Amino acid sequence: MAAPEGQWVLMATGRSPTNIAVIKYWGKRDEALILPVNDSISVTLDPDHLSATTTVAVSPSFPSDRMWLNGKEISLSGGRFQSCLREIRKRACEFEDEKTGIKIKKEDWEKLHVHIASYNNFPTAAGLASSAAGFACLVFTLGKLMNVKEDYGELSSIARQGSGSACRSLYGGFVKWCMGKKDDGSDSFAVQLADETHWNDLVIIIAVVSSKQKETSSTSGMRDTVETSPLLQYRAQTVVPSRVLKMEEAIKNQDFESFAKVTCADSNQFHAVCLDTSPPIFYMNDTSHRIISLVEKWNHSEGTPQVAYTFDAGPNAVLIARNRKTAALLLQKLMYYFPPQDKDLSSYLVGDKLILGDAGL
Ligand code: ADP
Ligand code: DP6
Ligand code: CO
Repeated sequence: MAAPEGQWVLMATGRSPTNIAVIKYWGKRDEALILPVNDSISVTLDPDHLSATTTVAVSPSFPSDRMWLNGKEISLSGGRFQSCLREIRKRACEFEDEKTGIKIKKEDWEKLHVHIASYNNFPTAAGLASSAAGFACLVFTLGKLMNVKEDYGELSSIARQGSGSACRSLYGGFVKWCMGKKDDGSDSFAVQLADETHWNDLVIIIAVVSSKQKETSSTSGMRDTVETSPLLQYRAQTVVPSRVLKMEEAIKNQDFESFAKVTCADSNQFHAVCLDTSPPIFYMNDTSHRIISLVEKWNHSEGTPQVAYTFDAGPNAVLIARNRKTAALLLQKLMYYFPPQDKDLSSYLVGDKLILGDAGL
């Protein structure tokens, strides 16, 4: 039976995991296109623990584009949402369903409005990269709905225009965002360095120090850093390029010692750059600092790193253990020094480095 004229809804749902950078992106050279000042490298997490799930729908009966995030309506007027919608609509292809008789011609997609509902299964805007999972999922799901044929590289470049870190969440495993050189951003997208089956010994544990929304969003924080920090230029031009090479080698060779050293050093330098911003930005708190001390002392006493730590733009610790045995010990230590009733450490999210690329989306 054909759908009555104007009375149908077409929907698609997708899920995307978040990713945590081990070489941080911090600072844009172009705000509108979201082009970074340096390359970055991340690990994509298991979507069962940290992911965004997004449903997008179109219908001739929708009078405008609307979006709900975690059940609350949010405005789509910002440039980032508009860029993603515009770029996906441009690439939409004809859709035809014989059963219902619904036919959407390429040019019709421009006229149809979308309703978007997204839900994060982890704290939003708390420094666990919700913008990465959120915009990757939005672009992927819109692409699915609108029959977009472009490959993941192209989708990554579109997700980048929603939130920089989102370009890395299109892939599972270890991912590099190549900053690119061109002014139009066409060479600034993510590539997969190794897939989710690589380096299966690693275990990632996230200590949720605070699930509160951060005071300074990543976007405004890095804008202030670019405008005021003298250290940022040194970091982007002199430090990061050699760290990226070291990190690629460490990942390829599964060299945990080098991986941990570079990961911790880069997290610390990112937070140093935040402190070098005027006014200074404090993303970590006392509990974060105590976690760093715990890991540093442990690594030192063993003579070789057991655990790497990294903190995004928030106080929550992402801890990467070299294997399951170390992960079990780490959990024991966390429980001892930060018992669950500790008001600062609300919960642990434990995730294997089990990453789903295509299958998880
Ligand atoms: P985070 O550290 O969590 O990435 P950011 O400050 O970078 O924090 O970004 C938070 C913003 O990302 C939110 O205010 C919202 O605009 C956007 N965002 C978060 N989750 C989603 C989602 N599931 N879908 C679309 N946008 C999202
Ligand atoms: C500290 O990607 O959230 O997590 O591009 O302005 O949306 P926008 O910023 P966002 O910044 C992420 C910063 C970081 C490091 C990283 O993920 O590389
Ligand atoms: Co973010």
